[in-house]
Amino acid sequence: MKVLVVGSGGREHAICWKLKQSPKVTELYCAPGNGGIAQVAQCVDIKATDVDAMVKWAKDNAMDLVVVAPDDPLALGMVDALEAAGIPAFGPRQNAAIIEASKAFSKELMKKYGVPTAKYETFTDLAAAQDYIRAQGAPIVVKADGLALGKGVVVAQTVEEALESVQAMMVDKKFGASGAKVVIEECMTGPEVTVLAFCDGATVVPMTSSQDHKRAYDGNRGPNTGGMGAISPSPYYTPQLAQQCMEEIFLPTVRAMAAEGRPFQGVLYFGLMLTPDGPRVVEYNARFGDPECQAVLSLLDSDLLDILLACREGRLDKADIRWRAEAACCLVLASGGYPGSYGKGYPIEGLDRVENAVVFHAGTAQKDGQIVTNGGRVLGVTAVAPTLEAAIDAAYAAATPIHFQDMTFRHDIGRV
Ligand code: AMP
Ligand code: GLY
Repeated sequence: MKVLVVGSGGREHAICWKLKQSPKVTELYCAPGNGGIAQVAQCVDIKATDVDAMVKWAKDNAMDLVVVAPDDPLALGMVDALEAAGIPAFGPRQNAAIIEASKAFSKELMKKYGVPTAKYETFTDLAAAQDYIRAQGAPIVVKADGLALGKGVVVAQTVEEALESVQAMMVDKKFGASGAKVVIEECMTGPEVTVLAFCDGATVVPMTSSQDHKRAYDGNRGPNTGGMGAISPSPYYTPQLAQQCMEEIFLPTVRAMAAEGRPFQGVLYFGLMLTPDGPRVVEYNARFGDPECQAVLSLLDSDLLDILLACREGRLDKADIRWRAEAACCLVLASGGYPGSYGKGYPIEGLDRVENAVVFHAGTAQKDGQIVTNGGRVLGVTAVAPTLEAAIDAAYAAATPIHFQDMTFRHDIGRV
């Protein structure tokens, strides 16, 4: 089969790496891809958000499957456009991708169907939002309604910080149109767990659990990022919790989407917080998480292509999905300054000396035969070992030869 993966990050590199292992994948393409993806797939120079160009290319080149991995093209309806052109596509349709694209939608869905989540209110009026914050007090969480690269959330420790955040989102338009509407919610506490799940519209099959590290600095301090590292499985996610989440969160969500006429086919991301009152949904995403995907797919023992096709064709209940009884750690090496501004184009040294790990490329490019930095999150060094401790140690050890100017990373992935 000829398969095209849409996207250009570490997640897409992991998806390509795993698909490449399928004997059924005869030709693998990635658009636009990056410097590392180019080593496993043929990169096609089309922006991930250019729906028309993507559909045209997929049609002209007779793709048998297009895997749409990032949130933006999903929210733009790329899956709908591909399917309308007769090209099989993996990922939710636009009317289901809204579960990530609008926090107001997802909060309303959870309220209507009784899925446990933080209490909240939605605002389009600045004064009303400010009054609510003053009335509720801190800590309190302020979220831009729309997509904001995982950065549109402020967990405010003081009322002043919360007021500044709504001002920045609603008036200063820090996240553009995404902040015209804000969701203000109760601050929950407890360990965070990510559960990615394959969905075919009716059946939901959770993958092995994982944990992201969203804050930029050690000790879970600093601004939120797209994710600085991930481990899988999460030590907090017991079989009892898995059972409870299936009954109270996963099945009700998938049934709710079907009942709303928005059947979800693709990967549904459950961002959970294990609060003292039980598991609660922090957020949904309509796709694999990045960097959770790198850790989780490293443990998948089955053919990813078969699973993706089963999701699309509504036969997930019969799919063969097995996980290695091991653990994985993905350590992100980032550009100094990220998630703020950072330099690009710095040569990356030492990639050829990495041992016992797979290096998934996120923000890299090939320039004059050299791999150079080209984004905030640059590489995801991913190791698998029999225990979580060993996987963490292996990822850090594997990263030691790698160097580029201003390189930075967290020192406590899997340990907080
Ligand atoms: P989100 O983009 O909604 O996942 O939020 C990013 C991060 O903000 C989450 O991973 C949590 O660490 C934190 N967060 C979001 N909502 C809440 C909440 N209601 N209570 C506490 N922390 C939250
Ligand atoms: N790692 C979090 C996300 O992909 O949204």
